[in-house]
Amino acid sequence: MTETAKPMTARAAAGPLSGSVRVPGDKSISHRALMLGALAVGETRIEGLLEGEDVLRTAAAMRALGAEVRRTGEGAWTVRGRGVGGLAEPADVLDMGNSGTAARLLAGIIAGHPIFAVLTGDASLRRRPMGRVTAPLAQSGAEFWAREGGRLPLAIRGAADPMPLDYTLPVASAQVKSAVLLAGLCAPGITRVVEPRATRDHTETMLRGFGATVEVQAHADGGREIRLAGQPELAGRPVAVPADPSSAAFPAVAALLVPGSSVTLEGVGMNPLRAGLYATLAEMGADLAIAGERDEAGEKVADLTVSSSPLRGVDVPAERAPAMIDEYPILAVAAACAAGTTRMRGLAELRVKESDRLAAIAAGLAACGARLEIEGDDLLVHGTGTPPQGGATVATQMDHRIAMAFLVLGQVTAEPVAIDDGSFIDTSFPGFVALMRGLGATIETP
Ligand code: S3P
Repeated sequence: MTETAKPMTARAAAGPLSGSVRVPGDKSISHRALMLGALAVGETRIEGLLEGEDVLRTAAAMRALGAEVRRTGEGAWTVRGRGVGGLAEPADVLDMGNSGTAARLLAGIIAGHPIFAVLTGDASLRRRPMGRVTAPLAQSGAEFWAREGGRLPLAIRGAADPMPLDYTLPVASAQVKSAVLLAGLCAPGITRVVEPRATRDHTETMLRGFGATVEVQAHADGGREIRLAGQPELAGRPVAVPADPSSAAFPAVAALLVPGSSVTLEGVGMNPLRAGLYATLAEMGADLAIAGERDEAGEKVADLTVSSSPLRGVDVPAERAPAMIDEYPILAVAAACAAGTTRMRGLAELRVKESDRLAAIAAGLAACGARLEIEGDDLLVHGTGTPPQGGATVATQMDHRIAMAFLVLGQVTAEPVAIDDGSFIDTSFPGFVALMRGLGATIETP
């Protein structure tokens, strides 16, 4: 809990959820649009930018690094960049709040510039490992000083003449991949990254859109090799940010669970490397209808209609984890209401998210009366086909997705589900409570 904690209570929805809504812009794409805009020459106009706290931290950081970043309307932002290698030394510490993506991607950008900068964050971010980015980035010639375990605050002296990197990721992480690619922008020659499993490819797609040469080769084992030609001239361009599939997941699962519901989520990003939850829900028996598929700025987008459905337990393979890494809290809630056991495999990375998500999900579900166990890196949730009892206060551990997942669970439990602190919801989904209430959910805030 924080000093400004916002406790919230969810009670069973009075009736079916219904309506057609657009959730806020994609967080991953919003960070990248601001960052690449700052590294481009000319103007980047962004529509649908997520105005959540995480992204606002990135906007402030890019300003502190010398880019002109202006808000011109709701979700409408303009960035005038400084060109690749042209960012300036910030006059003060860069506070990235709760955002791992902002901190790690920025570390890559700063590593390629001959500047000194210090990154810090809130108590959650200061607990998270940064060695996974500083280890590869140090090979470019940048220097790093961090706390024990490579944790923030992190001081960086970027390389004056950065070397291109050739790095095989030890974990499937889009943040690490992106940090290496962003550092590679400033280095001559080819920067090469090999990932063991394909992770979200927004950085590659957007880099291409801004004019960089990026080649991607799929490996037979499911991994990928990415090659970026260094020192490109990036040109500012318009970016339309799709609605965030990770945010849409919360009203989508609520609609599945509350009997008689039907909810349409408009313009949701449907990049296959983000859509693992929807594939899993379909396997569980969810009634999901996808319409109006289109392409926006290189990203697949569609309208998704979700209707309440009885769900059954399934086995979720570890290979799918990168495509739904942020969706396990809400999937675990769906699993707790499904009939039978859901086994979610290979969740080690959940231990280093905004909270130890594996522990936070398990503690919250157990407190609400669900049966589950953790076996190694797997989470097993034993559903009975009826929602668990509820009647607990869940510790959200400074984690927006734990907060939203349990507010969804409370829509179908016999007793209310309270959370100790909903303030972190604003990092990724400002307006969550109002949007859910608009669909018919019952969420009380004092
Ligand atoms: C993100 C990548 C994921 C995800 C995070 C956003 C990104 O982290 O959990 O919310 O924008 O690149 P990892 O790549 O570290 O798994």
